[in-house]
Order: sequence, then C-alpha cells, then structure tokens
Amino acid sequence: ERSLLGLKDLSRGEIESILDRAAYWAAREEKLIPVLNSRFVANMFFENSTRTRFSFEMAEKRLGAQVLNFAAAASSVEKGESIYDTVKTLESMGIDAGVIRLKPVGVLQELAGKISVPLINAGDGNNEHPTQGLLDLFTMKRRFGTLQGLTVSIIGDISHSRVARSDLWALQKFGAEVKFCAPPNMQAPELDAPYVSMDEALKSDVVMMLRVQLERHETGMLKSAEEYRAQYGLTEERAAKLSRHTLIMHPAPVNRNVEIDDSVVECEQSAIFTQMSNGVPVRMAVMERALL
Ligand code: CP
Repeated sequence: ERSLLGLKDLSRGEIESILDRAAYWAAREEKLIPVLNSRFVANMFFENSTRTRFSFEMAEKRLGAQVLNFAAAASSVEKGESIYDTVKTLESMGIDAGVIRLKPVGVLQELAGKISVPLINAGDGNNEHPTQGLLDLFTMKRRFGTLQGLTVSIIGDISHSRVARSDLWALQKFGAEVKFCAPPNMQAPELDAPYVSMDEALKSDVVMMLRVQLERHETGMLKSAEEYRAQYGLTEERAAKLSRHTLIMHPAPVNRNVEIDDSVVECEQSAIFTQMSNGVPVRMAVMERALL
C-alpha cells in the first residue's frame, strides 16, 4: 500500500519502517537528494495550512520531485467544481501522487477507491492527520529512545483534533499510555483514553497541548480565553512545576497565551519547533514510500 490515509489501520511494523526511514533522511546533510526527479506530485489543499503544506513541499523538492501546488481558493472549486472532479482532473494530467487536505470526514476514503494514484492524507476534518502523528512519534522516540511505556497527556480541544486521534491510535500500537485532559464540551468520549485532571496530566513524560480550534467551534464553546488559560493552559507557572525530563509538544499553529503561554512556546523543554523540523524527513519517507 502506497497511500497513507491514516495511522489507525497502519500496522506497528509499517509505522516503524517509516520512522526508521525518516531517521535516515534526517541524517542526510545534503539539501537535494533527487531520487524522485521524474515524479510529479500535486499538493491539494482544500483547507488552509502552513506547516503541512510547506513541509510536504520541502520534502518533495529535497527528493527532486516536480511539485504542483493547488489551493482551493484560487481554483475552479470556487465555481462549484467538486473535490472528486478536481482530483480526477489532476490525475488525468499525469500526477504520480496527491497530497490532500480536506474539511469533510469520509471523503478521502471514497476518493481513494476511485483514484488510481497514491493519496496522502494531510489532514481530513477531525478524523486523522497521519503525517503529524508520525512526526510526533518520531520526535518522542528521538527524545526518549522508545515509545514503549511512555506516558503522553494530550490536553485541550480533543473533540476537534485529528492530531489527538492519529497520535492516540499510533501510540497505543507501541505500548505508550495516552491520557486526555479537556473541558467537558471539548471531550471525545468515543475515543479509548481516560480523562484526567490537569494536575495529573502534567505528570506525564510528554505534555501535548492542542490548539483551541475556534474555526470548528459552534458559537459559545469557548466562553473566555482567560478562563480557558487559567483552567487548561500550560501557563508559565505550570510549566515551571513540570519534571525536568517532561517534553512539551504542540502541533501548532499555537494560540499564544490561550492553551500555552508565550514564554513556554520556545522554552528549553519545548519541542514545538523541533516537531516542525522533523516533519520534513518524516514526509520525505512518506513520499518515497508512495512513489518508489
Ligand atoms: N500542524 C499543522 O497541521 O499545521 P498546519 O495546519 O499549518 O499545516
């Protein structure tokens, strides 16, 4: 299987092999290693992105692929063209793989059944964000050496988070213990992880803060940013009480001074920008898997 639609259905062995290959790419110092130089990749973003879109483009270009960038707002989607017709159009022109970010859940599975080139999920609604999950695991493994037995707290807007889902499903395959902490209206009871208090959550090896996804909220879900920060934010005071070995993570973009204080984002224990760096070799491994 060359597509990557999610981590839930990917075996531990397959995830391990992508992480191992990402470590190989991370160790290569040359910027350009053109093993994909006759391959064409379309990055199709039907929802906005900075990190995922540009780190896929970095990864593809470092491997020498020919890159086509598609942004829905500047396309015939604005005239009413469907997602399927858009992807079919690019396939008919000869792309070898497509990276795709979508708002609705379920559409990607349907597309994958109708499109013959490999598709890579760059985030679909609140379902999965597999390459973010892979780069999160890669970051944790590099820091702690193993994922087995690691305690990971995911804190914040779980219900809207595709990152929480991909991380949970992948981490559980490796014997990590995932806990959630969230206000009652941002919980996802269908997911198999216990909810704990903020004090308990902050005792874990990894403390992963999530962005409050205002754009996906129904009105009134976040009554007060100050109140949220006071109850669920990784404030400077809380960060100062963390064990020295605790790793602070966040998929970003960050709402500074809401779920995490400004001064904590780039503190010594934070891996937030390391996560972004690691996204490039991880996506190189994913694109190589899709295209070689
Ligand atoms: N972490 C992440 O997916 O960021 P973007 O939405 O900017 O791609």
